[in-house]
Amino acid sequence: MLILIKENAQQMSLEAAQQVASQIKLKPDSVIGFATGSTPLAMYKELIKMHKEDGLDFSKITSFNLDEYVELPPSHPESYHYFMWENLFKHININPSNVHIPMGMAGNIDAFCDWYEEKIKSYGGIDLQILGIGGNGHIAFNEPGSSLGSRTRIKTLGLKTRLDNSRFFSNLDEVPKYAITMGVGTIMEAKKLLLLANGINKADAIKATVEGPIMAKYPATIVQLHRYATIIIDNEAASKLEGEYIDK
Ligand code: F6R
Repeated sequence: MLILIKENAQQMSLEAAQQVASQIKLKPDSVIGFATGSTPLAMYKELIKMHKEDGLDFSKITSFNLDEYVELPPSHPESYHYFMWENLFKHININPSNVHIPMGMAGNIDAFCDWYEEKIKSYGGIDLQILGIGGNGHIAFNEPGSSLGSRTRIKTLGLKTRLDNSRFFSNLDEVPKYAITMGVGTIMEAKKLLLLANGINKADAIKATVEGPIMAKYPATIVQLHRYATIIIDNEAASKLEGEYIDK
């Protein structure tokens, strides 16, 4: 793992955006795995800036999002479809037919999940997967206890995750109870991982991920086994780490 510790969330976001931009310049038809949530927002702003000011070209990329709430229509302001279009896609020149986001309204969720897995494979897999991390150590919506070999499927969201995400809804009851999520095994097949975390409330999850034993209780710990995982965190998220991480 390459652990990059940055001064603050802005520096973390800038570094992450540069890494995504390098991937796209290196391989213009890259398959990029996108995440939602608060963590990647400033990175998406940087990528939009790079597109508008420096002509970073997204026209050939293909995207696959990690997850989506079940039973929220794409038009719902808290759906991850809505999030991605509002915060990134509508500001860049991505080809809409190259965008893939799990369909929370799918009639047959199991069939949809199998289709999603096949679709990722048909593009030759994900070149670069962006990840956030839950305070409980989840990646995508692979909650504690998720099989470390899991594939795209429906997951029940734990109370901690629903409480964390209730800040986006008017109350806890409105937070969906289920999500479609790429599995831990699906994520681990991406050629490169870019995991971001900032803030003191991620410090325990980062400590477990970087320095703890690998266990299903903290699905993010599996990234220790990935050959090309880069973890970009700010000082606060890094504050409980004991090792010396000197990569710049
Ligand atoms: C979102 C996702 C989640 C978030 C995680 C952190 O697509 O996969 O795993 O990355 O819940 O969320 P934030 O960034 O809001 O703290």
